[in-house]
Amino acid sequence: MNLEGKRLLVTGGAGLIGSALLDRLAPDNDVTVVDDLSNGVRESVPESVTFVEGDLTDPAVLEDTLTAEFDAVCHLAADKYVDSDRPREQMERNEAMTFNVLERMDEVGVEKILFTSSSTVYGEAPRPTPEDYAPLEPISVYGASKLAEESLLSTYAHSHDFTVWNFRFANIVGPRYGAGVVPDFVYKLTEDPESLTILGDGRQEKSYMHIDDCIDAMCHVVQAADGAMNTYNLGTRTTTSVTRIADIVSEEMGLNPSYEYTGGDRGWTGDVPKMRLSVEKLAALGYEPSLSSDEAVRQGVRDLLDGAENEPHLG
Ligand SMILES: NC(=O)c1ccc[n+]([C@@H]2O[C@H](COP(=O)([O-])OP(=O)(O)OC[C@H]3O[C@@H](n4cnc5c(N)ncnc54)[C@H](O)[C@@H]3O)[C@@H](O)[C@H]2O)c1
Repeated sequence: MNLEGKRLLVTGGAGLIGSALLDRLAPDNDVTVVDDLSNGVRESVPESVTFVEGDLTDPAVLEDTLTAEFDAVCHLAADKYVDSDRPREQMERNEAMTFNVLERMDEVGVEKILFTSSSTVYGEAPRPTPEDYAPLEPISVYGASKLAEESLLSTYAHSHDFTVWNFRFANIVGPRYGAGVVPDFVYKLTEDPESLTILGDGRQEKSYMHIDDCIDAMCHVVQAADGAMNTYNLGTRTTTSVTRIADIVSEEMGLNPSYEYTGGDRGWTGDVPKMRLSVEKLAALGYEPSLSSDEAVRQGVRDLLDGAENEPHLG
């Protein structure tokens, strides 16, 4: 599908990835956003976009908003925290949102959907992890919710003639980020430039992708892949350890802090300490990210430092 001249509904468009997607899509498409602003910022939605404030766990919100005139839905809204202290609510809300979106699409005959899944569906899998790796054994309720949502999408792809583009993201970095290891280090070092507390042993090693590459890759896959269920990993070929992230943040801020580790092989329960997704399927479709994992982290730090005064920070 060509992402030009389309009428698109973007759920979660006031969030980090959603607002970056809007920056790309809004100039060439007629876009409506639904977001309850539970973790998003209204100001990050461009003015040309129609904004509807609503909670997608309530199906009535979509009855008023999603009509047959839409060409596709980009479904990004989610409770995305891996260490949520409300796991049952997270599971129920993420599933309810996706089921509501799919049922309403089916009702009005809109059959194209982009979905933002996550590397967490793989759990602690061998690396690099390809899309057809099995068994999928998530270790967090967040990962379990994404896997449950993927199975609903698969059902609609195979039994209701939907076209699904299902993106399993590595860790995404970029401007506006207020949560995650990169902004966490930036904020901690702003508070105390002399020392930095690092969760775990610092050897956790994951693949980071810059938001600009992530959006490019999504648009590329939507244009180039036309199966019923198009599942693609979006990530980089390399990884960055947590200690290396601390080094990059320190370099970019011109600091030389001492590091203190809290210990253990992971930052928190449900954290997958080592993650690298295979991006061969993406490469076979003709897309390579422009930045490596280290470069993405460095650019993400620069984005945060540059935008510190004039960008809204999202969670
Ligand atoms: N950021 C990453 O590194 C990453 C990695 C893997 C997957 N993802 C997925 O990508 C998507 C976007 O992530 P993000 O980082 O932009 O998250 P985000 O929290 O910044 O954005 C999600 C948006 O959804 C909205 N939302 C949440 N619950 C809602 C509800 N019930 N009704 C309406 N709106 C609701 C929030 O207000 C927020 O604006 C999510 O599905 C997330 O799980 C993100």
